[in-house]
Amino acid sequence: MLEFDARTTELLNIAYSGADITRRRQASFDALQPAPGDVIADIGCGNGLLTAELARAVGPDGGVLGIDISEDMMTAAKARCSDFPQVTFLNGSAESLPLDDASVDKAVSVQVFEYLSNITTAVAEAARVLRPGGRLVIGDIHFDSWLWHSDNPERMQRMMAAWDKHLVERCVPALLPPMFRDAGLVYERTTSETILDTVLKPDGLANMMMILIRAYVVGNDLIPEAEAQAWFDEQEQMARDGRFFFSLTHFVTVGRKPD
Ligand SMILES: C[S@@+](CC[C@H](N)C(=O)[O-])C[C@H]1O[C@@H](n2cnc3c(N)ncnc32)[C@H](O)[C@@H]1O
Repeated sequence: MLEFDARTTELLNIAYSGADITRRRQASFDALQPAPGDVIADIGCGNGLLTAELARAVGPDGGVLGIDISEDMMTAAKARCSDFPQVTFLNGSAESLPLDDASVDKAVSVQVFEYLSNITTAVAEAARVLRPGGRLVIGDIHFDSWLWHSDNPERMQRMMAAWDKHLVERCVPALLPPMFRDAGLVYERTTSETILDTVLKPDGLANMMMILIRAYVVGNDLIPEAEAQAWFDEQEQMARDGRFFFSLTHFVTVGRKPD
Protein backbone atom coordinates (compact mmCIF):
# COMPACT_ATOMS: atom_id res chain seq x y z
CA MET A 1 0.00 0.00 0.00
CA LEU A 2 1.20 3.51 -0.79
CA GLU A 3 1.61 5.62 2.36
CA PHE A 4 -0.28 8.91 2.12
CA ASP A 5 2.16 10.50 4.57
CA ALA A 6 3.43 14.08 4.84
CA ARG A 7 6.07 13.65 2.05
CA THR A 8 3.59 12.13 -0.39
CA THR A 9 1.10 14.85 0.52
CA GLU A 10 3.65 17.54 -0.45
CA LEU A 11 4.45 15.86 -3.79
CA LEU A 12 0.75 15.43 -4.55
CA ASN A 13 0.12 19.09 -3.72
CA ILE A 14 2.34 20.23 -6.64
CA ALA A 15 1.17 17.69 -9.20
CA TYR A 16 -2.50 17.97 -8.22
CA SER A 17 -2.42 21.70 -8.93
CA GLY A 18 -0.88 21.04 -12.38
CA ALA A 19 -2.87 21.05 -15.62
CA ASP A 20 -3.00 17.24 -16.10
CA ILE A 21 -4.58 16.37 -12.80
CA THR A 22 -6.72 19.50 -12.76
CA ARG A 23 -8.29 18.29 -16.03
CA ARG A 24 -8.93 14.89 -14.50
CA ARG A 25 -10.54 16.48 -11.42
CA GLN A 26 -12.59 18.81 -13.62
CA ALA A 27 -14.11 15.81 -15.43
CA SER A 28 -15.58 14.53 -12.14
CA PHE A 29 -16.64 18.04 -11.09
CA ASP A 30 -18.53 18.51 -14.37
CA ALA A 31 -20.19 15.08 -14.13
CA LEU A 32 -21.32 15.82 -10.57
CA GLN A 33 -22.99 19.12 -11.59
CA PRO A 34 -22.69 20.77 -8.17
CA ALA A 35 -25.46 23.33 -7.62
CA PRO A 36 -25.92 26.14 -5.08
CA GLY A 37 -27.21 24.73 -1.79
CA ASP A 38 -26.17 21.13 -2.50
CA VAL A 39 -24.75 18.96 0.28
CA ILE A 40 -21.90 16.92 -1.23
CA ALA A 41 -19.67 14.18 0.17
CA ASP A 42 -16.10 14.19 -1.18
CA ILE A 43 -15.02 10.64 -0.34
CA GLY A 44 -11.23 10.32 0.00
CA CYS A 45 -10.91 14.10 -0.28
CA GLY A 46 -7.10 14.00 -0.05
CA ASN A 47 -5.50 17.43 -0.03
CA GLY A 48 -8.85 19.11 -0.62
CA LEU A 49 -8.50 20.66 -4.08
CA LEU A 50 -11.83 19.27 -5.26
CA THR A 51 -13.35 19.95 -1.82
CA ALA A 52 -12.52 23.66 -2.19
CA GLU A 53 -13.87 23.77 -5.76
CA LEU A 54 -17.10 22.13 -4.58
CA ALA A 55 -17.35 24.57 -1.66
CA ARG A 56 -17.23 27.51 -4.09
CA ALA A 57 -19.88 25.84 -6.28
CA VAL A 58 -22.40 25.01 -3.54
CA GLY A 59 -21.90 28.40 -1.88
CA PRO A 60 -22.58 29.41 1.71
CA ASP A 61 -26.03 27.73 1.73
CA GLY A 62 -24.60 24.35 0.78
CA GLY A 63 -22.27 21.94 2.50
CA VAL A 64 -19.26 19.82 1.58
CA LEU A 65 -18.20 16.87 3.71
CA GLY A 66 -14.57 15.96 3.12
CA ILE A 67 -13.87 12.42 4.28
CA ASP A 68 -10.44 10.77 4.32
CA ILE A 69 -8.65 8.02 6.20
CA SER A 70 -5.32 9.89 6.31
CA GLU A 71 -4.79 12.62 8.90
CA ASP A 72 -1.80 14.01 6.92
CA MET A 73 -3.92 14.49 3.80
CA MET A 74 -6.73 16.04 5.83
CA THR A 75 -4.33 18.52 7.44
CA ALA A 76 -3.51 19.86 3.97
CA ALA A 77 -7.20 19.85 3.03
CA LYS A 78 -8.21 21.74 6.18
CA ALA A 79 -5.63 24.47 5.49
CA ARG A 80 -6.83 24.81 1.88
CA CYS A 81 -10.50 25.06 2.88
CA SER A 82 -10.13 27.26 5.97
CA ASP A 83 -12.02 30.12 4.28
CA PHE A 84 -15.09 27.96 3.64
CA PRO A 85 -17.35 27.51 6.68
CA GLN A 86 -19.57 25.26 4.57
CA VAL A 87 -16.83 22.56 4.58
CA THR A 88 -16.63 19.92 7.31
CA PHE A 89 -13.86 17.32 7.47
CA LEU A 90 -14.47 13.88 8.90
CA ASN A 91 -11.85 11.24 9.48
CA GLY A 92 -13.26 7.95 8.24
CA SER A 93 -13.26 5.24 5.63
CA ALA A 94 -15.08 5.00 2.32
CA GLU A 95 -16.06 1.50 3.39
CA SER A 96 -17.85 2.76 6.50
CA LEU A 97 -18.85 6.37 5.87
CA PRO A 98 -19.37 8.52 8.96
CA LEU A 99 -22.63 9.87 7.50
CA ASP A 100 -26.34 9.24 8.06
CA ASP A 101 -28.56 7.47 5.55
CA ALA A 102 -29.92 9.72 2.76
CA SER A 103 -28.02 12.72 4.13
CA VAL A 104 -26.28 14.07 0.97
CA ASP A 105 -27.46 15.27 -2.44
CA LYS A 106 -24.34 14.13 -4.27
CA ALA A 107 -21.22 12.09 -3.62
CA VAL A 108 -17.92 12.07 -5.47
CA SER A 109 -14.72 10.10 -5.12
CA VAL A 110 -11.67 10.73 -7.29
CA GLN A 111 -8.71 8.34 -7.43
CA VAL A 112 -9.61 6.54 -4.21
CA PHE A 113 -11.42 3.30 -5.06
CA GLU A 114 -8.26 1.63 -6.44
CA TYR A 115 -6.92 1.68 -2.86
CA LEU A 116 -9.96 0.15 -1.19
CA SER A 117 -9.98 -3.44 -0.02
CA ASN A 118 -13.73 -3.67 -0.52
CA ILE A 119 -15.04 -1.63 -3.46
CA THR A 120 -18.47 -3.29 -3.35
CA THR A 121 -18.97 -2.13 0.24
CA ALA A 122 -17.81 1.39 -0.63
CA VAL A 123 -20.31 1.66 -3.51
CA ALA A 124 -23.07 0.40 -1.19
CA GLU A 125 -22.00 2.96 1.42
CA ALA A 126 -22.12 5.80 -1.12
CA ALA A 127 -25.58 4.63 -2.22
CA ARG A 128 -26.73 4.50 1.42
CA VAL A 129 -25.79 8.12 2.19
CA LEU A 130 -27.33 9.54 -1.03
CA ARG A 131 -30.83 10.95 -0.84
CA PRO A 132 -33.34 9.58 -3.39
CA GLY A 133 -32.51 11.19 -6.74
CA GLY A 134 -28.94 11.91 -5.59
CA ARG A 135 -25.91 11.53 -7.91
CA LEU A 136 -22.74 9.46 -7.49
CA VAL A 137 -19.56 10.13 -9.48
CA ILE A 138 -16.45 7.98 -9.19
CA GLY A 139 -13.26 8.87 -11.07
CA ASP A 140 -10.52 6.27 -11.35
CA ILE A 141 -7.81 4.98 -13.67
CA HIS A 142 -8.01 1.68 -15.54
CA PHE A 143 -4.36 0.68 -15.40
CA ASP A 144 -4.59 -1.49 -18.55
CA SER A 145 -4.71 1.85 -20.41
CA TRP A 146 -1.11 2.63 -19.46
CA LEU A 147 1.37 3.19 -22.33
CA TRP A 148 4.89 4.21 -21.37
CA HIS A 149 7.66 4.05 -23.94
CA SER A 150 11.13 2.74 -23.09
CA ASP A 151 14.17 1.39 -24.93
CA ASN A 152 14.22 -1.28 -22.21
CA PRO A 153 10.64 -2.64 -22.28
CA GLU A 154 11.46 -5.59 -19.99
CA ARG A 155 12.66 -3.25 -17.25
CA MET A 156 9.64 -0.98 -17.80
CA GLN A 157 7.42 -4.03 -17.43
CA ARG A 158 9.12 -5.00 -14.15
CA MET A 159 8.73 -1.46 -12.80
CA MET A 160 5.03 -1.29 -13.73
CA ALA A 161 4.36 -4.75 -12.29
CA ALA A 162 6.09 -3.78 -9.02
CA TRP A 163 4.09 -0.54 -8.81
CA ASP A 164 0.90 -2.54 -9.39
CA LYS A 165 1.38 -3.99 -5.93
CA HIS A 166 0.49 -0.63 -4.33
CA LEU A 167 -3.01 -0.98 -5.77
CA VAL A 168 -5.71 -3.24 -4.51
CA GLU A 169 -7.57 -3.10 -7.85
CA ARG A 170 -6.25 -1.94 -11.25
CA CYS A 171 -9.53 -2.19 -13.24
CA VAL A 172 -11.94 -0.14 -11.07
CA PRO A 173 -13.80 1.61 -13.95
CA ALA A 174 -14.69 -1.73 -15.56
CA LEU A 175 -16.12 -3.09 -12.31
CA LEU A 176 -18.27 -0.14 -11.33
CA PRO A 177 -21.35 -0.32 -13.64
CA PRO A 178 -22.59 -3.70 -12.31
CA MET A 179 -21.64 -2.67 -8.77
CA PHE A 180 -23.76 0.48 -9.13
CA ARG A 181 -26.75 -1.65 -10.22
CA ASP A 182 -26.21 -4.16 -7.40
CA ALA A 183 -26.23 -1.25 -4.92
CA GLY A 184 -29.64 -0.14 -6.23
CA LEU A 185 -28.29 2.78 -8.26
CA VAL A 186 -29.11 3.63 -11.85
CA TYR A 187 -25.86 3.42 -13.85
CA GLU A 188 -25.87 6.34 -16.29
CA ARG A 189 -22.56 6.50 -18.16
CA THR A 190 -18.77 6.25 -18.17
CA THR A 191 -16.59 8.87 -19.84
CA SER A 192 -12.84 8.91 -20.38
CA GLU A 193 -10.09 11.48 -19.95
CA THR A 194 -6.68 10.51 -21.33
CA ILE A 195 -3.59 12.16 -19.94
CA LEU A 196 -0.92 12.07 -22.62
CA ASP A 197 2.54 13.50 -21.98
CA THR A 198 5.26 13.84 -24.60
CA VAL A 199 7.07 16.26 -22.31
CA LEU A 200 8.20 15.50 -18.77
CA LYS A 201 6.52 18.42 -17.01
CA PRO A 202 7.51 19.25 -13.39
CA ASP A 203 3.82 19.54 -12.46
CA GLY A 204 2.66 16.65 -14.65
CA LEU A 205 1.19 13.26 -13.81
CA ALA A 206 4.15 11.39 -15.33
CA ASN A 207 6.72 13.28 -13.25
CA MET A 208 4.75 12.63 -10.06
CA MET A 209 4.40 8.95 -10.89
CA MET A 210 8.11 8.56 -11.65
CA ILE A 211 8.98 9.90 -8.19
CA LEU A 212 6.30 7.84 -6.43
CA ILE A 213 7.12 4.64 -8.32
CA ARG A 214 10.87 4.85 -7.70
CA ALA A 215 10.31 5.46 -3.98
CA TYR A 216 7.71 2.69 -3.70
CA VAL A 217 9.55 -0.09 -5.53
CA VAL A 218 12.85 0.61 -3.74
CA GLY A 219 11.28 1.22 -0.33
CA ASN A 220 9.40 -2.06 -0.52
CA ASP A 221 12.42 -4.07 -1.80
CA LEU A 222 10.61 -4.93 -5.02
CA ILE A 223 13.32 -3.66 -7.41
CA PRO A 224 17.02 -2.97 -6.62
CA GLU A 225 17.74 0.74 -6.20
CA ALA A 226 20.26 0.82 -9.08
CA GLU A 227 17.70 -0.65 -11.49
CA ALA A 228 14.95 1.75 -10.40
CA GLN A 229 17.34 4.69 -10.73
CA ALA A 230 18.44 3.51 -14.21
CA TRP A 231 14.76 3.39 -15.21
CA PHE A 232 14.21 6.91 -13.84
CA ASP A 233 17.36 8.25 -15.57
CA GLU A 234 16.33 6.68 -18.88
CA GLN A 235 12.97 8.50 -18.79
CA GLU A 236 14.66 11.82 -18.00
CA GLN A 237 17.09 11.25 -20.88
CA MET A 238 14.26 10.33 -23.26
CA ALA A 239 12.55 13.59 -22.26
CA ARG A 240 15.74 15.57 -22.98
CA ASP A 241 15.95 13.81 -26.36
CA GLY A 242 12.32 14.64 -27.20
CA ARG A 243 11.37 10.93 -27.10
CA PHE A 244 9.20 10.86 -23.98
CA PHE A 245 5.77 9.18 -24.34
CA PHE A 246 3.37 8.50 -21.45
CA SER A 247 -0.39 7.92 -21.65
CA LEU A 248 -2.90 6.88 -19.01
CA THR A 249 -6.69 7.03 -19.10
CA HIS A 250 -8.90 8.13 -16.23
CA PHE A 251 -12.58 7.19 -16.35
CA VAL A 252 -15.55 8.89 -14.73
CA THR A 253 -18.49 6.66 -13.78
CA VAL A 254 -21.83 8.33 -13.15
CA GLY A 255 -24.95 6.97 -11.48
CA ARG A 256 -27.95 8.14 -9.50
CA LYS A 257 -30.17 6.85 -6.75
CA PRO A 258 -33.75 6.32 -7.98
CA ASP A 259 -36.34 8.87 -6.76
C1 LIG B 1 -4.66 9.70 -4.78
S1 LIG B 1 -5.42 10.47 -3.40
C2 LIG B 1 -6.78 11.32 -4.16
C3 LIG B 1 -7.27 12.49 -3.36
C4 LIG B 1 -8.41 13.32 -3.94
N1 LIG B 1 -9.62 12.56 -4.09
C5 LIG B 1 -8.02 13.96 -5.26
O1 LIG B 1 -8.34 13.41 -6.32
O2 LIG B 1 -7.38 15.00 -5.24
C6 LIG B 1 -6.19 9.10 -2.60
C7 LIG B 1 -6.83 9.45 -1.28
O3 LIG B 1 -7.62 8.34 -0.83
C8 LIG B 1 -7.50 8.27 0.57
N2 LIG B 1 -7.93 6.93 1.01
C9 LIG B 1 -7.29 5.75 0.85
N3 LIG B 1 -8.02 4.76 1.39
C10 LIG B 1 -9.15 5.32 1.90
C11 LIG B 1 -10.32 4.84 2.58
N4 LIG B 1 -10.45 3.53 2.85
N5 LIG B 1 -11.27 5.70 2.94
C12 LIG B 1 -11.15 7.03 2.67
N6 LIG B 1 -10.08 7.55 2.05
C13 LIG B 1 -9.10 6.72 1.66
C14 LIG B 1 -6.04 8.57 0.81
O4 LIG B 1 -5.78 8.92 2.16
C15 LIG B 1 -5.82 9.72 -0.17
O5 LIG B 1 -6.09 10.97 0.41
